[in-house]
Amino acid sequence: MASTQQPQNLRRHIGGRQARPFWGAIVCGCGVLCSPMFAEVKVADFGTTTDGIAVKQYTLTNSHGVVVKLIARGATLAEWHVPDQHGNMDDVVFGFDDVAGYESKDNGYFGATAGRVANRIAGGKFKIDGQEYTLAKNDGPNTLHGGLQRSLDKVVWEGQSFEKNGEQGVAFKYVSPDGEEGFPGKLTCRVTYTLTDKNEVRIDYNAATDKATPINLTNHAYFNLSGAGSPTILDHELMLAADHYTPIDETLIPTGQIAPVAGTPFDFREFHKIGARVDQLTDQPGKGYDHNFVLNSQTGKLALAAKVRDPKSGRVLSVYTTEPGVQLYVGNFLTGAKGKGGKTYNHRSGLCLETQHYPDSINQPKFPSVILRPGKTYQHTCVYQIATE
Ligand code: GLA
Repeated sequence: MASTQQPQNLRRHIGGRQARPFWGAIVCGCGVLCSPMFAEVKVADFGTTTDGIAVKQYTLTNSHGVVVKLIARGATLAEWHVPDQHGNMDDVVFGFDDVAGYESKDNGYFGATAGRVANRIAGGKFKIDGQEYTLAKNDGPNTLHGGLQRSLDKVVWEGQSFEKNGEQGVAFKYVSPDGEEGFPGKLTCRVTYTLTDKNEVRIDYNAATDKATPINLTNHAYFNLSGAGSPTILDHELMLAADHYTPIDETLIPTGQIAPVAGTPFDFREFHKIGARVDQLTDQPGKGYDHNFVLNSQTGKLALAAKVRDPKSGRVLSVYTTEPGVQLYVGNFLTGAKGKGGKTYNHRSGLCLETQHYPDSINQPKFPSVILRPGKTYQHTCVYQIATE
């Protein structure tokens, strides 16, 4: 399309706001503006929660035709369509076709933002500055992923789409009131997703509080690099930039020890098939990998945490983070949920690499602190990149 038209007639009303189209100024030999790159985040209604709240869906596209869909419930990464080594597109993350699916018990935090405190808090209790706080226990004797009813994966976030430097994204915001799910302080959380032209999904987290409070945000995407719904991830090969991990007790709470991975099934310093040693792990519920790894980089700067290769599709997932840990979870509790397009998510058919602080840090004085104080800002960046080789 050759056009010198101005974009006014292309403006769309998005999510109650005027969207500003992105114009890539391409000036061809004739000196006129040709083939303007009109890039716009598509916003659609995804449905309504049982509480009657409308949930928006956002579609991001990059110049390689990679498509990412996000939904406002749980600030969730719901779809990611990427090419394999032959250029065939597959959606490689778990999700559902409707809000009811996300609200169902089959939803193991698929693609969601987990918090206020992702992962486990032992006994559903902690103390800050001498004051004890009690939370709902939703995982045996412990609290998992921020609680029972209004954890961050279950609430509807406010989304604002954007285009910046030719890249599309959505900035989600949620203000969690003081006391929500038992946590102190009014917590203002922001999670910003950007789809880059390097086929990365970049997730920037930011939060502020008005009372000292624990915080640990992460994304809980389940990947199967052969396409979500493929039978297994045990054939995927994993590398982790971690010389140490945190051993756990029979309820998946860290013992407090920081143990070397050398000579154990946790040694992924070089690529190993996930299935090669997974059955040696029999000591905790679910068995298999569901452990925090202590990343070698502890600088708070973005560094490589993990790489996953799928020999079948040739897709390679690289994970970068500013966080000190990553939880490797290989879908031990999956039992055949019916997901997008009727696909089945069977036992160990998806894997999560949740960049975060270590589990139960609020009760473990030797672990890096998860306490956010008023006047300070919580920040965390995680980049998932999918390439082929
Ligand atoms: C986390 C936990 C797992 C499991 C999943 C959700 O990653 O570590 O034990 O509870 O969430 O099913």
